[in-house]
Amino acid sequence: MKKIIIIGASSGLGMRIATDFARMGWRVGIAARRLNILNEIKAQYPEQIETMALDVAATDAARRFEDLIEQLDGMDVLLYAAGTGWYNPDLDPAKEARTTDVNVKGFTAIVTAAFSYYARTANRLPGQIAVITSVAGARGMGIAPAYSASKRYQWNYLTALDQLAHMRHVNVRITDIRPGFIDTALLDQDPQKASLPLLMSVDYAAPIIERAILKGRRTVYVDSRWAVMTALMRSVPAPLWRRLSLNL
Ligand SMILES: NC(=O)c1ccc[n+]([C@@H]2O[C@H](COP(=O)([O-])OP(=O)(O)OC[C@H]3O[C@@H](n4cnc5c(N)ncnc54)[C@H](OP(=O)(O)O)[C@@H]3O)[C@@H](O)[C@H]2O)c1
Repeated sequence: MKKIIIIGASSGLGMRIATDFARMGWRVGIAARRLNILNEIKAQYPEQIETMALDVAATDAARRFEDLIEQLDGMDVLLYAAGTGWYNPDLDPAKEARTTDVNVKGFTAIVTAAFSYYARTANRLPGQIAVITSVAGARGMGIAPAYSASKRYQWNYLTALDQLAHMRHVNVRITDIRPGFIDTALLDQDPQKASLPLLMSVDYAAPIIERAILKGRRTVYVDSRWAVMTALMRSVPAPLWRRLSLNL
């Protein structure tokens, strides 16, 4: 039975993907801070699901993640779906710090622990590190500075891990999943949520992400319309980008 660990499985995309993989017959390790919600998910598939309370920004995050790998007796795929971010044009320092804590510090702690696990086990079949990043990594955005910068960090970190895996002969596939707007709790604080362009439902987006993981894709946009939008965002000359009022 194949095994996937999902960090950030108590809500939104991570929660939906966790139950889908359990339904497909996988063993699933789920982690987040809200253990009560994780236990409700486990109750649906008690034989297949293992839970772990874990704050990715805490100093014991990597150790708890490794304990979950042991509890599950291995890991074929890591999906890092934990994330936070705010519409923060007022630069509230607490929001900016929380975003980098989860999307930079926590992300780094977990993906480096996963990479070390695959390096150590010298797995014959390829392991996989998949991360839900965002199209927000394309350019720095004035309305969400820490969020857009943290997602660019994730893009580059995954590229670096891919190169390192090649250099060190670590048998791991790196999958960078870049969604546009999806209707989850993450967007609830956005005052413009109702009018966000190309807003997708979890029902629509989750299967695209699952197929990307199963096929071992390297980079995938959710969905293809957002691949075009991202290319457009990246092509805007810097002087013009500065003048754009992205008041989404
Ligand atoms: N929704 C969108 O429009 C969108 C677009 C592009 C990319 N993404 C990315 O997709 C990923 C999933 O987000 P979502 O939309 O599904 O949002 P969500 O419903 O808010 O889920 C976020 C998940 O992250 C977990 N999390 C947050 N802080 C954590 C911490 N310190 N330690 C451990 N887990 C933590 C939460 O669990 P606890 O609170 O229980 O800890 C929750 O399970 C994020 O990386 C997000 O940036 C989302």
